[in-house]
Amino acid sequence: MTVDVVLGLQWGDEGKGKIVDYLAPSYHIVARFQGGPNAGHTLKFDGKHYVLHTIPSGIFREDLINFIGNGVVIDPITLADEIAALDQAGVNYQDRLIVSEKAHLILPSHRYLDKASEVAKGKEKIGSTLRGIGPTYMDKTGRNALRVGDTLLTSFRARYEALRNKHLQMSKLYPDIDFDLETEERKWFDCIEILKTLKRADGPYYINEALDSGQRVLAEGAQGSMLDIDFGTYPYVTSSNTITSGACIGLGIAPNRIGEVIGITKAYCTRVGGGPFPTELEDEMGELLRKEGHEFGSTTGRPRRCGWLDLPQLKYTVMLNGVTQIAVTKIDVLDRFPEIKVATQYHYNGQITNQLPYDLCAFDVNPLYVGLEGWQQSLGEIVSYQELPKSALHYLKTIEDYLKVPISMVSTGPERKKLLVK
Ligand code: GDP
Ligand code: IMO
Ligand code: MG
Repeated sequence: MTVDVVLGLQWGDEGKGKIVDYLAPSYHIVARFQGGPNAGHTLKFDGKHYVLHTIPSGIFREDLINFIGNGVVIDPITLADEIAALDQAGVNYQDRLIVSEKAHLILPSHRYLDKASEVAKGKEKIGSTLRGIGPTYMDKTGRNALRVGDTLLTSFRARYEALRNKHLQMSKLYPDIDFDLETEERKWFDCIEILKTLKRADGPYYINEALDSGQRVLAEGAQGSMLDIDFGTYPYVTSSNTITSGACIGLGIAPNRIGEVIGITKAYCTRVGGGPFPTELEDEMGELLRKEGHEFGSTTGRPRRCGWLDLPQLKYTVMLNGVTQIAVTKIDVLDRFPEIKVATQYHYNGQITNQLPYDLCAFDVNPLYVGLEGWQQSLGEIVSYQELPKSALHYLKTIEDYLKVPISMVSTGPERKKLLVK
């Protein structure tokens, strides 16, 4: 069997949680492969509303295994909170939530360093979620970090203290910040005990054996392709590979195991945190998108920056990911707009092109737009793709023609059932 992948084609928050939750019943295993509690994936069904940070978005579907792969960085405190929410909701996760022994641990002092480093950067700050993501991946590639499997070793406490002490030395490089490390450490060790009660597996053997025995696996990305550490708007990115190849690394599967790649884009564009955003609308139109789309971060509550859909940007991420089908989300947010713009080219450095510059921060990029007619009616009650108004179908066809990839799903509301499948 192959692994299908769902991931974001923009700067995150494209609606990955909703799409994964919808698709999950067709799979045996849903697996997260990168990122950590910087993610906030929202699920809405039966009048309930959940936000998942570490746990895969298949957890509310009975009988399905949810696997946290080696590429994910886990904060035991956030994970314990998520588990408590599952307990409260009466979700039986004990036999269905499996953690890779090779996944890395976020320590309280990683969060401390994340915060101190952002304060030190001042106006140049990344706008990190302050969840300790950057410092943890730094320790991973620096070969210092602690992994889930290490929690069972007798040397675990000593290794923890050595790493924490190193972080305290490093913190001298940064300004003093308010952070109660002792309290956070006590909480962290309590939550390590909860983590130890979860089922764990040697990730690559687990996933490959599952595939060999005919099980279907859906890999769930976090963040978005424009936040990829290598291919995103560096340095305003996260610290992991968010693209399809990240699923190979973050689960231990070979590239020829990848099947369908479902790329998600909003019908417009958002970004939270700092960094370049060519089609950003810093006017009342941007404000209207934020209001209509309730664009406030699922993890930090920060207002998201909003702008028009950026087709050259999407073409780039479709290329990076090998996208085979596209899901367009939040189309209903555009219901009231008489005209909808999409960027089709960029003007920078004296040239007109549909390619992004190597460094979006270094160039003053002016997007060139086409204006499309809005539908000015509510799409929320429409039950089939074919019933969409002509101008909405034209909008979707414009995207398909430009990207040369079929749109397979259109989401018309946050709830699970508000999805038109083509
Ligand atoms: P993720 O990080 O990609 O899973 O996305 P988030 O959960 O952070 O943000 C997406 C937000 O949009 C959530 O509040 C969802 O409930 C909401 N949402 C998802 N799909 C739709 C849609 O089609 N229409 C509207 N109006 N909201 C949606
Ligand atoms: P989901 O999975 C949107 C952004 C942060 C910041 C940058 C680096 O919900 O789509 P980090 O904490 O990773 O060091 O922050 O990346 N960011 C996200 N933006 N959605 C996310 O996740 C994000 N995860 C990180 O705002 O700009
Ligand atoms: Mg999110």
